[in-house]
Amino acid sequence: SRIIKYCMAGFGNVGVRFARLLLEKEAELRAEYGCEMRLTGICTRSKGTLLNSEGLDLKKILAMNEEAGRFDEKDDDFVRCGTETMIAASEADLLIELTTLSIDDGEPAASYIRTALNRGMHVITANKGPEAWRFDELNALAEEKGRMFLYETIVMDGTPVFNLVKKNLRGNRILGIKGILNGTTNFVLGELERGGSYESAVKEAQRIQLAEADPSMDVDGWDGAAKICALANILMGAKANPKAVHVESLADIDAADVAAAREKGCRIKYLCRAEAGDENGGLKLSVKPELIPFGDPLASVNGTSAAVTLYTDLAGEISIVQTDPGILQTAYGVYSDLCTLIESTQ
Ligand code: HSE
Repeated sequence: SRIIKYCMAGFGNVGVRFARLLLEKEAELRAEYGCEMRLTGICTRSKGTLLNSEGLDLKKILAMNEEAGRFDEKDDDFVRCGTETMIAASEADLLIELTTLSIDDGEPAASYIRTALNRGMHVITANKGPEAWRFDELNALAEEKGRMFLYETIVMDGTPVFNLVKKNLRGNRILGIKGILNGTTNFVLGELERGGSYESAVKEAQRIQLAEADPSMDVDGWDGAAKICALANILMGAKANPKAVHVESLADIDAADVAAAREKGCRIKYLCRAEAGDENGGLKLSVKPELIPFGDPLASVNGTSAAVTLYTDLAGEISIVQTDPGILQTAYGVYSDLCTLIESTQ
């Protein structure tokens, strides 16, 4: 059977759920693709590094993580080194990059991806920082090296957005994008409408593992800014970065604002937009609370759901809604990239 050696950077909520999914899918991967996945290195800032080019035991790693919240320093495979060293020493064919969002410059995730591509590895990432900041560079590097750089899960998890455009909307130009792209803030708005408090809504979003490690990334709009940049860079050929997005925090919205909106027959939604404009080479990017009438399709996107509308020149206006995603859906997005990789490199 074909053995794919992979290493992992990051083992937080997404990493742990992905690891469990991979174990659940082991038999299916073997049956469907004749493929066996072998983990050869894993590194997280807070849990340590494990390395073994012959293969690490994923079940044991999950157990260590569950018991101690970190890897066992007495374990034979425990090594004192950082992520770059782990990637280089792992002898892997694939880096699965699952570190947390870094909004300032997409680092260190972009460097991990660069290192892996330069060493001839394919890369799957759940991190939108690199695509928001360095998409052109990383994509060109992947092409130069003949390796795949996949990131479906960075916007709306495994709901196909990038795959939809690349595989099923061939020949279209994407003229504009509008979306509710951050579940945490959509949930917060719903709770405010129901009379709940802002703080308890954010806490609940953290409890269900939806909020970013630092929830100000969600409520201050940076997660949305990274996502709209990634969408615009990847689907519209933009050369934007999150600093170029007009961002207004959701923190300035309170119960009185949502009640006033309702009286006008509207809801407040936290919308991300990429549309024709004067900035960024003809593209205006924004993330801000907006009043939309009850009849607008995006007005009925509730709870932690997300939605995106793509304006295309040939296929018209296409909207996709993802209802109440959880961490499994993020892990699935990574898994769907893995299937793409396996199928494309057979
Ligand atoms: N924190 C993000 C959200 C997670 O709330 O939508 C998914 O990217």
